[in-house]
Amino acid sequence: MKTQILKISELKETISTAIILKESDNLPKGLFKSNELAFLKKRLKEEQEITIFRYPELIFIYKIEDENNQSFALEKARKAGARLFQILKKEKTGIIQIWNKSGEKPLLAFTEGLLLASYSFSKYKKEKDSFELKKILVLDENVKNKELKELSVITEAVFFARDLVNEPLSTLTAEKLAKEIQIAGGKAGFSVEVFEKQKIKALKMGGLLAVNRGSIDPPTFSVLEWKPEKPANKKPIILVGKGVVYDTGGLSLKPTFNSMDYMKSDMGGAAAVTAVIYALAKAEIPVHVIGLIPATDNRPGLNAFTPGDVITMFDGTTVEIKNTDAEGRLLLADALAYAKKYDPELVIDVATLTGSAVLITGDEGMAVMGNNRQYIEKLKISGEDVYERLVELPLWEEFSEPLKSSVADMNNLGTREGQTSIAGKFLEHFTEYKWIHIDIAGPAFIHEDKTYRIKGGTGSGTRLLFNFFKNLFPKK
Ligand code: BES
Ligand code: ZN
Ligand code: ZN
Repeated sequence: MKTQILKISELKETISTAIILKESDNLPKGLFKSNELAFLKKRLKEEQEITIFRYPELIFIYKIEDENNQSFALEKARKAGARLFQILKKEKTGIIQIWNKSGEKPLLAFTEGLLLASYSFSKYKKEKDSFELKKILVLDENVKNKELKELSVITEAVFFARDLVNEPLSTLTAEKLAKEIQIAGGKAGFSVEVFEKQKIKALKMGGLLAVNRGSIDPPTFSVLEWKPEKPANKKPIILVGKGVVYDTGGLSLKPTFNSMDYMKSDMGGAAAVTAVIYALAKAEIPVHVIGLIPATDNRPGLNAFTPGDVITMFDGTTVEIKNTDAEGRLLLADALAYAKKYDPELVIDVATLTGSAVLITGDEGMAVMGNNRQYIEKLKISGEDVYERLVELPLWEEFSEPLKSSVADMNNLGTREGQTSIAGKFLEHFTEYKWIHIDIAGPAFIHEDKTYRIKGGTGSGTRLLFNFFKNLFPKK
């Protein structure tokens, strides 16, 4: 992300102006003639948004929503920011000053929407997007520099996550993903260790190895760690991300249309975990976090694991494979069992795990499950703040029934009915600590542009988790 956010009140170049206000009387006097001012005041009683063209500049006025429902009001401000981006792009004006006559939160939300909407993935196109949002100048002495810096960091992190998801298998194998994680670690200052196939074999990560059997590319298991000098938490918080760089379904092959055709996104959890650790390190949030990313593609190669196989997981549990397309839970289970060695305060896994989560949330939210009320509630609140909303599903005891097997400790499939919870129940078997599971299958990848989310990988989960950590461990 090249856009700069500055706090300068004067600049020589031609710049457009955005005004965010609460009351229509708050229009800055200097910009308008008195009859124009009277007109705008009246208009703003009926309309929330006005664009005035004064070639070569433009003025965009946005009146923020009543703050009864703050989360929704802020989301509307983000969406207004995204609309402004479209106008700036059309008019080819790359510098914008934002005149803030509202609070800090609406300003930050508006600016966030503007920035997030400016993403594009055109590295493989001959004709690149030529428009660039060069500078955002914030005219508000009260807004804290720290907040602007964090906004810039989180935007960069979301773009990074989107890039990782948008990269196809041909350029992002498990090994390449591990390399990208190492590069990110070098840039942001977190450490990375990558376990290669040999080490994964020595550790007996049977779930990850089984999924990898049909692939010609080796698996990787990346361990990311951000440990600030004085962390606010004694025991680390662990983030586990599903890193299936491509999911064909394996021998239980997926159909192509509207299914396998976008399965490069099956590492959306890994992208979010990597990106959030990147942001935490860059913004120096005082939390000790460890990321675990088991990665492979899932393919029906000659040596692929088969329905009917019995595999032994990292923790010794045996699993009867009933469907090779239910692969995510296998590699996540190994990572979850591995997480125990850190004696964690909390473990959160993020995964594009089930098609039935898509049916529940669409691309508007994520399914959440877990065994710790306090942390789930905190996560939900963090989700409302950034509008990455969570809907909680049960982990009822009865959901373990369909996972029983006559030949092994468990099977990997269960039933269609209740599948998102059943997949959660499968994972729960491998957890012996406070744990939350987030199924992001719905929002991880979208098929058309939606305001500040651009077609393709969305980076879902990145803003949610960053905000969760910021709320838990505020910087002094
Ligand atoms: N990666 C898919 C889940 C998925 C589906 C993610 C749609 C994003 C969009 C996962 O590995 C999968 O195939 N799950 C199966 C499980 C089933 C065989 C029990 C599913 O949900 O259909
Ligand atoms: Zn699958
Ligand atoms: Zn999958």
